Amino acid sequence: MRSAIKKPFIAAALTLALLCGYAVAEQPKQPEMHHDQFGGLDSMNGMKFKDYSDFATKWNFVTVRYRKDTGEMRLTYANDAAMKTLISGSIDYPKGAMFAKIGLMTQDDPGFVSSLVPSGAQRYQLMLLDKEKFKDTDGWGYALFDETGKTFDGDPKEKAEACHACHKMVPERGYVFSQPVKLNMGLPFNIKMQIATPEKTIASRVVFETVKAETLPEKLKKAMPPEFTEIRLLRGDMEKSLFYGTIDEIRPTLAVELVRSNLPTALVGKDGKLFSAVIKTKQPECELPDGKKGIQVRGIFTDVPRGEKNPKIFVRDIMFCEPKS
Ligand code: HEC
Repeated sequence: MRSAIKKPFIAAALTLALLCGYAVAEQPKQPEMHHDQFGGLDSMNGMKFKDYSDFATKWNFVTVRYRKDTGEMRLTYANDAAMKTLISGSIDYPKGAMFAKIGLMTQDDPGFVSSLVPSGAQRYQLMLLDKEKFKDTDGWGYALFDETGKTFDGDPKEKAEACHACHKMVPERGYVFSQPVKLNMGLPFNIKMQIATPEKTIASRVVFETVKAETLPEKLKKAMPPEFTEIRLLRGDMEKSLFYGTIDEIRPTLAVELVRSNLPTALVGKDGKLFSAVIKTKQPECELPDGKKGIQVRGIFTDVPRGEKNPKIFVRDIMFCEPKS
């Protein structure tokens, strides 16, 4: 009986909607986006997004990576010049060699749980080799665009330095992290290229130092549990030059050091405004996706909301399970 009542009701609602079609069809207003002088533009550091927006069909597929803690999938592509160099095993990239990376959010396929599917682009990143133009960053120019192909806020030169501060961790690969997966080239899958030897792991590339808690910026100190007195700080280029992308990317590296040293661990920008810290929680154990026991970690980090007129930096929290070794 219920459906008999419902149908005419729906019909009436539809007629009404059609009659006042204009008002109903109107989309909810998007909040207005605010940008600084560097945000919302079509190009960054001389790279125009439109010139490369078809990289996924025109360029060569290099590899796919997956970030376990955030569920973000990344696909990397190389133009012909970059791919030729990469496959030859050389790091002598010629002028014009380019890489592009797309970060994709993922979600469960409603048709088959446990199979994650891409659910939207997060951002696009480009690297272009030009030794004269990008002298300060070992020849690589960097550009970052949002899901619509527009730049984010923030000085592009400073951002490129922050990009390079991290890419510098792999000088023996010519500052390019990605190694080709030989999926569709008729070649055997070269696992040696994929897995770095222990002395070349990222964790061994970063230097940490134990410092007294009182030297930390006030905002971070406040967010930490009161009993802590010492912290491991990541030292080097990344603390001198970082942006919100670094804050997010570095968290798993900090967690490895937290587990190893058993001390809170952080990366703090030189002016103390941006930071990413990890600490253990009161409930120490958690379960990893493979059923093994892991260590419950709390990430405390700064975040800058996008598109607001005077964005305030605020402190956020994230919980995740980290393997014991
Ligand atoms: C904290 C470290 C870190 C920072 C900061 C960083 N990257 Fe990367 N980047 C990586 C890693 C690791 C990869 C390998 C792929 C992956 O894991 O997503 C990568 C891959 C890339 C690639 C594909 C080629 C390659 O090297 O594998 C491009 C292009 C790229 N990054 C551009 C940028 C740009 C542009 C910025 C700054 C806006 C930036 N990156 C900042 C760590 C970083």
